[in-house]
Amino acid sequence: MNMCLYDKQYGYYSSKAIAIGTDGDFFTSPSISADFGELLARQLEEFWQVLGQPKPFTLVEMGAGEGILGKIILDYLQKENNSFYQNIQYLIIEKSNSLKEKQQQIINPEKYPVLWKKWQEIESESIVGCFISNELMDALPIHRIVKHGDELKEIFVTVNDGKLEEIYDNFSSNKIEEYLTMNQVDLTEDSYPNNYQTEVNLLSLEILEKINHKLQRGYILTVDYGYDAHKYYHPQRYEGTLKCYYQHRHHHNPYVNVGCQDITSHVNFTALEKVGEIFGLDKIGFTQQALFLMGLGLGDRLYGLSNDKILLSELWQRRNQLHELINPQGLGGFGILLQGKNLSDREKETPLKGFTHSPFSMAL
Ligand SMILES: C[S@@+](CC[C@H](N)C(=O)[O-])C[C@H]1O[C@@H](n2cnc3c(N)ncnc32)[C@H](O)[C@@H]1O
Repeated sequence: MNMCLYDKQYGYYSSKAIAIGTDGDFFTSPSISADFGELLARQLEEFWQVLGQPKPFTLVEMGAGEGILGKIILDYLQKENNSFYQNIQYLIIEKSNSLKEKQQQIINPEKYPVLWKKWQEIESESIVGCFISNELMDALPIHRIVKHGDELKEIFVTVNDGKLEEIYDNFSSNKIEEYLTMNQVDLTEDSYPNNYQTEVNLLSLEILEKINHKLQRGYILTVDYGYDAHKYYHPQRYEGTLKCYYQHRHHHNPYVNVGCQDITSHVNFTALEKVGEIFGLDKIGFTQQALFLMGLGLGDRLYGLSNDKILLSELWQRRNQLHELINPQGLGGFGILLQGKNLSDREKETPLKGFTHSPFSMAL
């Protein structure tokens, strides 16, 4: 998965061909309309207020795709809340050089307070503000695990007779066992069928560790599709969550369209919460994207459409875009985890617009 997505020459995310949205293989919320970024910007403004308007307030976006989200947030705040905008420093951490180039075309660093950084270029405990990611964690290479008789094995890939072939062997890292134990998952139990397959995302925890290292005070907002550990490792989910996206169709075969298709796996939010607790991060809230956006004013935008003097075709398109962002079977069902570091009790307990509604179920 690492080679398929990130090989410097042939990897999906490294190639110039990668496009997100209608011309690509999948949509993300920022690629649908500006509403997601604008409403998210309102939440960021509230974070700034809760923290006592720190200067600078640094927003660190990790895995910024084509840079659309950053541009929307900065444009919106410049127009709607210039006093906040004047205090913003926007940092982007991006693995793909070709996407970084696209980002720099979209968010002109001469016009916006934006900088691209590598983790090692950020001083430890220097950030006061918020780390944001939208669909980063699902794009991280994972370890695939299989129940093979009474044993658990890792699935590796080799080349045999010119063809890609899966082989099973012992775990490549002790951390896989530790991860399952931490999530209170015992795949050797009888309820898990033979050949049960699933994933372990160790890199998501490494990223959280890096964030914790750089964050002095503030928030971590993770938006992605996923489940809690109980649902993720449910015995009935026997094929795991690995999915490939090619020209807006999804399937489960990572060995075709190699380097030309996206490969993802769902996010285990329990793991992020548990490891966060070990680091001393507080879980401030968890919600679903639909509820988050409704709390920040998406309902008003929908309602306002009927008063807008726009063409019927345009009205229809706007309405569909807003509905897509809150569709519970799609983007609206995404999880949004908010963690905090070094917040006072008052700051932790301050109600936040995006987290006023608690989710009654996780996305399926
Ligand atoms: C599915 S795309 C999401 C893009 C964007 N956030 C959006 O919502 O449209 C995943 C992004 O994460 C980047 N990425 C993957 N692994 C990364 C890592 N370890 N550090 C930083 N960026 C990474 C990819 O290059 C890509 O920009």
